[in-house]
Amino acid sequence: MAHVTALHLKYKYPGSDTLALHDISFSVERGECIGIIGENGSGKSSLCQALAGLIPGFYKGAYGGKVLLDGQEAAHMDADTLCRKVGLVFQNPFNQVTGAKLTAYEEVAFGLENIGVPREEMHARVREAMELLHIYEYREHYPFDLSGGQMQRMAIAGVFAMRPEIIVLDEPVSQLDPQGRKEVFEAIRTLSGHGITIFLAEHNMEQIAAFCDRVALLHEGRLICMDTPARLFSRDDLETYGVEAPVFTKLARVLQVRGQDGLFPVTLEETKRLFMEKRQTGAGVLEWLE
Ligand SMILES: Nc1ncnc2c1ncn2[C@@H]1O[C@H](COP(=O)(O)OP(=O)(O)OP(=O)(O)O)[C@@H](O)[C@H]1O
Ligand SMILES: [Mg+2]
Repeated sequence: MAHVTALHLKYKYPGSDTLALHDISFSVERGECIGIIGENGSGKSSLCQALAGLIPGFYKGAYGGKVLLDGQEAAHMDADTLCRKVGLVFQNPFNQVTGAKLTAYEEVAFGLENIGVPREEMHARVREAMELLHIYEYREHYPFDLSGGQMQRMAIAGVFAMRPEIIVLDEPVSQLDPQGRKEVFEAIRTLSGHGITIFLAEHNMEQIAAFCDRVALLHEGRLICMDTPARLFSRDDLETYGVEAPVFTKLARVLQVRGQDGLFPVTLEETKRLFMEKRQTGAGVLEWLE
């Protein structure tokens, strides 16, 4: 059975006359990392909220279709079950921090406290999460004294400590500087290595290509396609949807350097490999560049 399924999902915010999500269907296997891309207003955050059950649980409005987690309908789960199943990381770590706790450690423990996890287990889980995300050394720090990257990793640790099967991250690095971005992407890679199913809404296509098994392209609330990064970024019509391929793919396209499958490369490593191969076969791409 698929781990996460969307079936004809539709959603309209209260007072709005356009659908933020328009008949979206897909299924995702356990452990997959799914990128969510699309121009501003295309529905990425709305889809994230629907996957985490906040639509229709928290946001009212008109809702149709369903999200199934392990075959169970998210809209019918109680809040407790839902937050053990799926965790949501927001764009801005400031919005995730409760503001009620004096240390990073207590902040990470907050969710576990709320669901009544026994004290010893709570300590073990908080420590594990903080160590995994390399923030245990900041455990005594005041949450708002942390750097953006540390604060976002603290937020992710709080989500991870809940041991969800699914983590949804809505542009988790968009407020961070390059160092913070790097730290958080390493943290996401760690989560992925733990078999967690990941949804990652993100504008940086190089990161999406490097991280994701498949990518969902949204436009005006509709799912245009959900495919491997190579197939999606090799499409000729991306500009129609207001997105661009990774810079390596654009370069390879200009120079018509394709892999054996006819697709353009999407990561630096792959692009380099194909360019080197071309050089060996005398295609002269690198000479042309020089
Ligand atoms: N709280 C809200 N109330 C009414 N309409 C909303 C609300 N939030 C989003 N929308 C609308 O729903 C549509 C989808 O918005 P959404 O925030 O999901 O897009 P997005 O892809 O996440 O955009 P961005 O890249 O700017 O984060 C847009 O038309 C937006 O104006
Ligand atoms: Mg958004």
